[in-house]
Amino acid sequence: MVRYGHFDDRTREYVIDRPDTPLPWINYLGSEAYFGLISNTAGGYSFYRDARLRRLTRYRYNNAPLDLGGRYLYLRDDANGDYWSPSWQPTQRELDDYECRHGLSYTRIASARGGIRAETLYFVPLGETLEVWRTRVTNERDTTAELSLFSSVEFCLWDAQDDATNFQRNFSTGQVEVDDGVIYHKTEYRERRDHFAYFACSEPLAGFDTQREAFLGAYRGWDRPAAVEQGSATDSVAAGWSPIGSHHVRLSLAPGETREVIFVLGYAENPRDDKFDPPHSQTINKSRVRPTIARWLDSATVTEGFTALTTHWDRLLGGLQVSTPDADTDRMVNVWNAYQCMVTFNLSRSASQFESGIGRGMGFRDSNQDLLGFVHIIPERARERILDIAATQMATGGAYHQYQPLTKRGNNDIGDGFNDDPLWLILGVSAYLKETGEATILDEPVPFDNAPGSEVSLYEHLVRSLSYTLDRLGPHGLPLIGRADWNDCLNLNCFSETPGEPFQTTENVTGGQAESVFIAGQFVLAAKELASVAELRGLDEKAAEYRAAAEKMTGTIVEHGWDGEWFRRAYDFHGNPIGSGENDEGQIFVEPQGMCVLAGVGLDDGLAARALDSVGDRLGTPHGVVLQQPAYSRYHVELGEISTYPPGYKENAGIFCHTNPWIMIAETILGRGDRAFDYYRRINPSAREAISDVHRCEPYVYAQMIAGKDAPTHGEAKNSWLTGTAAWNFVAITQWILGLRPELDGLRVDPVLPAAWNGFVATRVYRGATYEITVRKPIGVSGRVTRLLVDGAQIDGTVIPPAPAGATVRVEAVVER
Ligand code: BGC
Ligand code: NOJ
Repeated sequence: MVRYGHFDDRTREYVIDRPDTPLPWINYLGSEAYFGLISNTAGGYSFYRDARLRRLTRYRYNNAPLDLGGRYLYLRDDANGDYWSPSWQPTQRELDDYECRHGLSYTRIASARGGIRAETLYFVPLGETLEVWRTRVTNERDTTAELSLFSSVEFCLWDAQDDATNFQRNFSTGQVEVDDGVIYHKTEYRERRDHFAYFACSEPLAGFDTQREAFLGAYRGWDRPAAVEQGSATDSVAAGWSPIGSHHVRLSLAPGETREVIFVLGYAENPRDDKFDPPHSQTINKSRVRPTIARWLDSATVTEGFTALTTHWDRLLGGLQVSTPDADTDRMVNVWNAYQCMVTFNLSRSASQFESGIGRGMGFRDSNQDLLGFVHIIPERARERILDIAATQMATGGAYHQYQPLTKRGNNDIGDGFNDDPLWLILGVSAYLKETGEATILDEPVPFDNAPGSEVSLYEHLVRSLSYTLDRLGPHGLPLIGRADWNDCLNLNCFSETPGEPFQTTENVTGGQAESVFIAGQFVLAAKELASVAELRGLDEKAAEYRAAAEKMTGTIVEHGWDGEWFRRAYDFHGNPIGSGENDEGQIFVEPQGMCVLAGVGLDDGLAARALDSVGDRLGTPHGVVLQQPAYSRYHVELGEISTYPPGYKENAGIFCHTNPWIMIAETILGRGDRAFDYYRRINPSAREAISDVHRCEPYVYAQMIAGKDAPTHGEAKNSWLTGTAAWNFVAITQWILGLRPELDGLRVDPVLPAAWNGFVATRVYRGATYEITVRKPIGVSGRVTRLLVDGAQIDGTVIPPAPAGATVRVEAVVER
């Protein structure tokens, strides 16, 4: 049992009690427009909206030592020259004690060395585009301490990609200005001088530095800056090279005295109508930010701002709180899983320890799924997101795979052709409708590919999504896979005339005949959802048409997609089955088992149960369900990227956690609560905390992947934070295992619990009314609810019609023997 910290459930924090965690264990600051990553040793970076194009501070990915670049402070004992980092990095000088508390959108790092204690709270106030570092330094000695405190950030020249590569230019563009103790980073971003950063300090300065080499000294690193070693800043003003921001403050502390020093790092824009003529001016408009800076350098403002942030999170999380017999379930549902859903909703797959912030915009498929776990938290933001995503859809129903967060335009570099993409829009919108009941969104005019004048209703977009699949059926009547479906690495329209030639994912697609059983299952699910939405609009004929299409596809799946003991995965370019007993490797894949059962395929004829039993037997491991078996032991050009991974990693038989909740949900559909909950616990990060030395990633959030049984590091997690795993696990536990499931016509209460439980209680805010729910059942029984009482009166079925907003509804659900 190796732990590096513990959960503080009361304060909703994860407390890390040693700095040398197996990997940087990070948190996120900000949830609106200004964002930052912050590790347990204060590593990380900040950006405004777009992690690539508006990056404020520099970070060195895949660096040695790990996690370099951050919000670093240095303390120096001016009596003897001893200096250290209160967050341990970057000096790594030994600390007498250390504690990092990652909370909801804030992080607090506290430590002491030689009788000097420092505690820094980092957060982004609501409604602001800045971050606050509030440091309290305490002298615990019995003599006066003469100290120096240095701050530091290394500025990124905005476009992180360019910043990391275009040195011939960038070594000459850096510009800063220091005015009244405030460091302004005003390097232009190409010709557009419309934004700048500022870095301010609440105390009078003994000095400052803004040129990296002046602060560090030639050939020296962040672990031993010359200015800190000497105890004085050089007052350097950067011209070119690498602009940084560092304040030097001298503190004389009496025994027992605490001094508070506040630093503010922020982002500002010169508005277009400004007299400074933003695009080409050499002047930044400091007068606009001065009042903001002054406000946030004030201790009372910081205290209020922090209280506002915690109150905000109380309110956001208060909409769904549960108390079950399982502590790991409670803390994931009540705090961490919901929190991770907010982060994935905000950032898609852009910026984490594993996503560099430069490669990926907002995914069409990813963002639609992220909605599933987020829509109940802030429905208005989900609404806006849906309309943004839909506006990137093309008139064919096809979808850009990604769009850029700043421009909200489809990304041409990546383009379209992932044939599952459009169907996710139906599932995202349907989740929104079920949560909010707000059907007017369907009538919103939404353009195709953002082209003015091309607007049709959002509902029409959904119709096009469905026809996109029907317009692209292959030789077996199954949907064509295109470049890939959910599994980005299953590129079946790749072939090579020359053995050994690398696979192509974009070519050979036209005319590519490879088909996906996964998309077939997803189509059945989406067609049924759209049918219900059509009924809502009184379009009964259309609804019948969609249901018939779902029925027909179900028949095709059973005819061509069933392998005998499980659902096949696909047919390749040449019409050979993939994910079949006929294959030597890759005989069974998890995705179609989950998706087909979710869609209701095979429920009446026993196929679903057989498929899920096969999953348990062939894909189950103690660390979760692997994606496929047997792992591909060599490269197959005709399968694409999947076989480029070594066995047990990522899509090649890794435990791809995103898919596990599909199996959990499928098990609940069959009423098998023990199995569903067992799968849930295998990958629940909190339940894995005791094996942190094996798991290695943060124990408070899901990771995209845990190494599968074919990997030498079986059980080791990677790609934490930004993964569809967050939303789907939230859906699996809250909506299917606990069974609190929004429907178009009300809140369903249909738990499928493990036999060992005696029930649970929950508070769920739904369409403005508060439902106080108690579920009771005898221990040892695993059945469904037999009696449902709403405010004392028994109702038929399991759907509670929506109560008026503001009402409190008492719900009692009983499972009888
Ligand atoms: C990864 C996938 C990911 C894809 C994104 C691949 O290398 O294996 O998990 O979805 O990249 O483009
Ligand atoms: C991660 C991607 O973000 C997601 O879109 C994809 O479905 C999975 N990897 C599986 O390949």
